[in-house]
Amino acid sequence: MTSGNLDSFKRSAALKAVEFVRDGMVVGLGTGSTAKHLLIALGEQVRAGKKLRGVPTSQETAALARESGIPLIDTEDQWEIDVAIDGADQVDPNFNLIKGGGGALLKEKIVAASAKQFVVMVDYTKQVPALGGPFPLAIEVIPFGWGSTAHRIEALTKSRVVLRERDGAPFKTEAGHLIVDVHIDRIDRPGELETALNLIPGVVETGLFVGRTSVLIVGTPQGVHTLHVPRK
Ligand code: A5P
Repeated sequence: MTSGNLDSFKRSAALKAVEFVRDGMVVGLGTGSTAKHLLIALGEQVRAGKKLRGVPTSQETAALARESGIPLIDTEDQWEIDVAIDGADQVDPNFNLIKGGGGALLKEKIVAASAKQFVVMVDYTKQVPALGGPFPLAIEVIPFGWGSTAHRIEALTKSRVVLRERDGAPFKTEAGHLIVDVHIDRIDRPGELETALNLIPGVVETGLFVGRTSVLIVGTPQGVHTLHVPRK
């Protein structure tokens, strides 16, 4: 499978996701290569006359949205987001996610939590029997005492914890925090792990998105599959 093929499945998932945006809606705009397709498609709809306003989950997405002509909400007041649409790095059979490969997990989670509906769009390779394994779990931490925080995370997860770097320096998130990537073989209870990690002082947020998905859209070689998650 070439990355070009995978990109076509991301695009087909994103084009399906656009159907969840109706006229007048406030839309949470995700980050990543799948979200780029979404922004292009939404921009076309805006030019065709659809009224919508976006809440971007990263500076990169904000820039792409502006380029596409999507009006953005520029207030930090309490949002009324109708639908948030985003990609994911892994999806388990219960529609729980690992996100944060691009480092935007904090804003992504705030936006997903503020939305009435959370639509996740992925190519089929993101579906896994269990979270973890080859894909590390990103955890955003406060720089102050990050080594001690990482040590506590290591003790809790009994897994290797690596400080994320970019160009030979620690990767800084948009909020000025660090990210540690945790290499966990298999996450059987993502909800319990998310809660335990969030109790460690210094942890800002984790890339586990548990029980948040409303709709999962999967681009596959056989077409696009749309799965509605039953409300609990
Ligand atoms: C950004 O921090 C991530 O959560 C992305 O949403 C996720 O990595 C999916 O990215 P792609 O759409 O590029 O696969």
